[in-house]
Amino acid sequence: MKVVHSLPELRPARAGLPGLLGFVPTMGYLHEGHLSLVRRAKSECASVVVSIFVNPAQFGPNEDLTSYPVDLERDQAVLEREAVDLVWIPTREQMYPEGFQTWVTVEELIRPLEGEHRPGHFRGVATVVAKLLNAIQPDRAYFGQKDAQQLAVVRRMAQDLDFGVEVVACPTMREADGLAMSSRNARLNPKERQAAAVLYRALSAAQQDYAGGERQADALRRSMAKVLQDEPLARIQYVSVADPETLAELQGEVGRGLLSMAVFVGKTRLIDNVLLGD
Ligand code: PAJ
Repeated sequence: MKVVHSLPELRPARAGLPGLLGFVPTMGYLHEGHLSLVRRAKSECASVVVSIFVNPAQFGPNEDLTSYPVDLERDQAVLEREAVDLVWIPTREQMYPEGFQTWVTVEELIRPLEGEHRPGHFRGVATVVAKLLNAIQPDRAYFGQKDAQQLAVVRRMAQDLDFGVEVVACPTMREADGLAMSSRNARLNPKERQAAAVLYRALSAAQQDYAGGERQADALRRSMAKVLQDEPLARIQYVSVADPETLAELQGEVGRGLLSMAVFVGKTRLIDNVLLGD
């Protein structure tokens, strides 16, 4: 496994990789969710590149950039065990040199849900993913359904800007109690960690209602909110039943739908989602 930090090192290393190339972008502090993407890429591609970059451009001024967990040594050891071919760990100065002023903005998909509560977040995500894809030029790029809006934004961008990459969606990996794996879970104290399972319980409640024939968007939103409100350590930021393609909030009858939510558990903001009717 080769590890590179700069673009001049990346280019020849990338050029030397044979066959279909899979790419998994990450912000590090890797867990089984990340590794499920890596394993999927390994199973489908001849060569696999992973990037680790905590992208400052996607964090808001009051968000957790400075306290975002980092353990590059452990990450590299883990990726070595997965037999990844190339790891790219760019520096902030390389990605955003002085004078940087070109941004990628996806116009509509970034407005609702996460975009409403994290202004500028998806501009940062789209820009860094565009830079990573340009530098690596993979055949396939792997993203988690855990970040459903990110996946939609990246898909749209790749299509609109002719990146020629196949964006592959991978299912959400969960802990035994249903909590979606996330680097941010490390922030939860034991009580909060226990309370955090409420997100998946809320999604499951609405999923069950849907399976039992409930099709009203409002009823599904209420069902999620009710479960969340019963957990004293949880504070709802939003619960949503949206169109899975446009991400527009649904009213009335739901056919296919994306159930999603952002919930503070203590000071930690957690997101989760499931698809209905797939
Ligand atoms: P990060 O949060 O490190 O996640 C990297 C990838 O892992 C994303 O595609 C994310 O959806 C996926 N992932 C995270 N938790 C997962 C889980 N429990 N199950 C399955 N997949 C999971 O997302 C980012 O980094 C950044 O925004 C990035 C795309 C790297 C751009 O900076």
